[in-house]
Amino acid sequence: MGDRVLIYSRIAGTGSYLPEKVVTNADLEKLVDTTDEWIASRTGIRQRHMAAEGETTGDLAFYAATRALEAAGVKGPELDLIVLGTTTPDIIFPSTACLLQHRLGANGCAAFDVNAACSGFVYALGVADQFVRSGQAKKALVVGAETLTRMLDFGDRSTCVLFGDGAGAVVLEASEEPGIFTTRLHADGGYKHLLYNPVGVSAGFRPDEPNAGVRVLMTGNEVFKVAVKTLDRIVDETLQAAGMQESDVDWLIPHQANLRIIEATARRLKLSMERVIVTIDRHGNTSSGSVPLALDEAVRSGKVQRGQTLLLEAFGGGFTWASALLRY
Ligand code: ACO
Repeated sequence: MGDRVLIYSRIAGTGSYLPEKVVTNADLEKLVDTTDEWIASRTGIRQRHMAAEGETTGDLAFYAATRALEAAGVKGPELDLIVLGTTTPDIIFPSTACLLQHRLGANGCAAFDVNAACSGFVYALGVADQFVRSGQAKKALVVGAETLTRMLDFGDRSTCVLFGDGAGAVVLEASEEPGIFTTRLHADGGYKHLLYNPVGVSAGFRPDEPNAGVRVLMTGNEVFKVAVKTLDRIVDETLQAAGMQESDVDWLIPHQANLRIIEATARRLKLSMERVIVTIDRHGNTSSGSVPLALDEAVRSGKVQRGQTLLLEAFGGGFTWASALLRY
């Protein structure tokens, strides 16, 4: 018996999709008591995309996945696994991953959704990485897709200016070369009250409440403080787990919730903002869509090159937080 060869999962291709319709800060000034100046200076957001009527999370996921499969040179039926991060599934069941699987002609492979709010894609990546490392899957599709604007109250200025719709995807392949070095996933349900949507199935749809089903409730400034501290900690933990240092990281690809949170994480990593992928100005917070959208944009623009080391991280409702350190 020879030494067992370590298997890594490697990103073979990336893809993303943004709905056509753009909503600018000026458009929102007409709906709520806000200003472009307030939104841009507090969050970094200048515009976001919004899904068309009838266009669903599954549609966005399908377009992003198709592009990622094309970039990887992989056909739908070759997939062993689909993991899809979303908080805004098309319907309660089947999962959006199952709906996507059928559209891709990947029928028969494992397919399921992961709900970790804004950390959904990085969670999904962590799950798929375990399947590939253990030899259970050779080709896996990982998607982050959301239509968050469907659950916003466009009368609530404190949340409706923050979110947008979009999707991103990666195809993972088993490889003897890294690949993903480590993924770290965490949650603390004790923070539920700071960021949640109260509408439920088992807890009741509450159709009698005003705006039932269309609201994100968030204590923004409290979320902000915990996010900055928590992301600091996970940066340390991730580097340590991989035996690496700040200077080994070529690009930070963060969840795009707030430019000030991103800048804080970059400072912690001693990375100049030129080494951080920022899309929040154009995309807003697309929840699970944000990290794979930023990754795909960075790959397609030629910024991120093969062989470089990337740190992906996210923070969201739950609270959940997660990271991945990988060689692209
Ligand atoms: N336009 C103008 N004024 C506004 C707006 C708006 N759109 N929204 C709130 N304000 C007002 C508030 O009413 C408040 O007014 P007051 O002082 O008279 O009471 C004032 O602005 C300050 O409000 P804060 O909430 O303290 O503002 P802050 O600087 O914290 O910025 C923000 C708010 C942008 C939400 C920030 O706290 C943030 O980004 N938090 C983190 C969000 C996040 O990371 N979420 C996690 C991911 S999301 C997910 O998982 C689904």
